Amino acid sequence: MSTQAPVTLEKLVALCKRRGFVYQSAEIYGGLNGVYDFGPMGTLMKQNIRAAWMRSMHQAPGEIVFFEGAILDPEAVWKASGHVENFSDPMVDCLNCKHRYRADDIDLNKACPHCGKTAWTQVRQFNMMFSTQVGANADQASIAYLRPETAQAIFVNFKNVLSTSRVKMPFGIAQIGKAFRNEITPKQFLFRMREFEQMEMEWFCKADNALHDFETWSQARRTFYATIGIDEKKIRLRPHEKGELAHYSTLCNDVEYQFPFGWKEIEGIAHRGTFDLSQHSTHSGKDLSVFDEETKTSYTPTVVECSVGVDRLFLTLLFDAYYEDVVESEPRVVLRLHPSIAPIKAAFFPLSKQLNEPTLALYSAIKKLGYSVQFDESGSIGKRYRRQDEIGTPLCFTYDFDSQQDNKVTVRNRDTTQQERISIDQVARYMQEYLGK
Ligand code: GAP
Repeated sequence: MSTQAPVTLEKLVALCKRRGFVYQSAEIYGGLNGVYDFGPMGTLMKQNIRAAWMRSMHQAPGEIVFFEGAILDPEAVWKASGHVENFSDPMVDCLNCKHRYRADDIDLNKACPHCGKTAWTQVRQFNMMFSTQVGANADQASIAYLRPETAQAIFVNFKNVLSTSRVKMPFGIAQIGKAFRNEITPKQFLFRMREFEQMEMEWFCKADNALHDFETWSQARRTFYATIGIDEKKIRLRPHEKGELAHYSTLCNDVEYQFPFGWKEIEGIAHRGTFDLSQHSTHSGKDLSVFDEETKTSYTPTVVECSVGVDRLFLTLLFDAYYEDVVESEPRVVLRLHPSIAPIKAAFFPLSKQLNEPTLALYSAIKKLGYSVQFDESGSIGKRYRRQDEIGTPLCFTYDFDSQQDNKVTVRNRDTTQQERISIDQVARYMQEYLGK
């Protein structure tokens, strides 16, 4: 029997800590709200998420090049981008208990959810960028910001990339990196954090093709989530209402996932028009237009952006993969992660400690092929399966006393819990076939 309900945030947070996926940052000092560290399993899984996204960029029909911008940028960048003026959320305080909220997160006609009194301050705008001073002289010129989105460095370097890579319009520049937002109310674990990571691709095209490309990218990005195993029924595309649009975009489709706390954005596909390149051109005085050989005229490219958070996708994948089963009359928690996302691809168990040596030899041979694998000799085989199920390991191989005679091991499938015996010299091929699916 396999059930998915009820998957609660509390269960996921506990699993993430218990199995080394995610820890509260600086926990022994009381932690920092909205900031998390990733443990051994979380680090591997994050790496797999980035790799899946990179693969989707390589496989995209258009040409895409990669980029890695700095985290710190001078104030001029963020003035030009409009973030100094506009990157804010509405904030409201309860005068009674001093609790602070994002005004669009609560109903101001109702009482404070924390103290039950109705005594709100005026709603005011709170800029979410973290500022800092660069260098020893603290003056206006030394102000820098930790980037609240990775995209701006791409726009600022657009001409450099175009002139130093063999790309032609239309093309994309893709980047993975940290972003920082001083969220008023970080919440739902990895859903809304203050330090997080984004995977963004800025697609530069002609204005005439932008609508078509916006729709094409919206569909392509929706499809991506099925390729990494997310239940298609829980994914939808939702166009933004006019009032929801960010200051830079004229159209936006959100890819949303049905979390237990509602349908929420995991990726935004935005039609940014010529806003960013025009702004940076005006503010820097540098020409960021391109020359069209056909019409012999210059134009400012239009941008279609695809932007997804690594951590938010990590949380989505966990919610989607979390099941509670009863196997052989014992309850188990299993993460049915897609094999490409699972942090550990296979585990190797000796049935008895006397069989450690040949099991370790098999484990080492597979490890040498570059797979992330584990060797586990402690506890009953059932307990060892449960441990691997909880971290989503697709395959477990057990070396038993018969293995010495028949040169076979038992392979057990995480999802079906079916077991079969295969030759030891077929293990690498078996893994390649199964994991390559
Ligand atoms: N460059 C466009 C941009 O930054 P966004 O909708 O603000 O657009 C894009 O963010 C994605 O980044 C979101 O869909 C989400 O996956 C992720 N994201 C944004 N804010 C986040 C936060 N505070 N914590 C975790 N992920 C976040």
